[in-house]
Amino acid sequence: MDRPFNTRKFKPEDLNQVIYINQICLPENYSTHFFIELYNNFPETFIVAEEEEKVVGYIMCRIESGFSGLGLIKRGHVVSIAVLPGYRRKGIGGALLKEALHAMAAHYNVKECYLEVRVSNVPAINLYRKIGFRIDRVIRGYYANGENAYLMSIKLD
Ligand code: ACO
Ligand code: ZN
Repeated sequence: MDRPFNTRKFKPEDLNQVIYINQICLPENYSTHFFIELYNNFPETFIVAEEEEKVVGYIMCRIESGFSGLGLIKRGHVVSIAVLPGYRRKGIGGALLKEALHAMAAHYNVKECYLEVRVSNVPAINLYRKIGFRIDRVIRGYYANGENAYLMSIKLD
């Protein structure tokens, strides 16, 4: 393996760095409690990327139950993913997402995964498409500033 980064499960001692990355990268910020609760409930799908022992990216997810045509199913929800600006475009975001999707299927028996993304967020939309997500629909005014979201999803098998 010749990539300069590795991925591993989040540990509580990563919390401050993950909060820092979230604040640098996204307008959607969360309380400490929110991060810890996702970790406590869904530890397998809270994953970080490290480069030279520094945490430079994270993905955190929630597993939700919902109805589809087939009845009650479990869905993975990517709540937040981010990579520090100086470390982008070398596969870290893709590695985090693939790892989380794999963990959803393997540990939580999830059959599909969804997320919301700003319609203007071309880097993230391209990342999701590259992994195999499709746009299902637009959610009008989803964000605090009134911007629309795409609801995107992928079937896991
Ligand atoms: N422009 C166009 N396409 C891009 C860009 C870009 N700037 N960045 C990534 N992509 C697409 C490309 O298809 C790329 O493949 P390629 O490099 O072979 O062309 C593919 O995504 C994979 O890129 P990675 O290197 O794996 O992704 P990266 O490590 O750069 O992280 C991320 C992508 C997480 C979206 C990063 O840009 C980021 O942190 N952005 C700010 C935070 C953010 O917007 N997070 C998503 C919000 S939505 C949510 O969290 C559910
Ligand atoms: Zn969401």
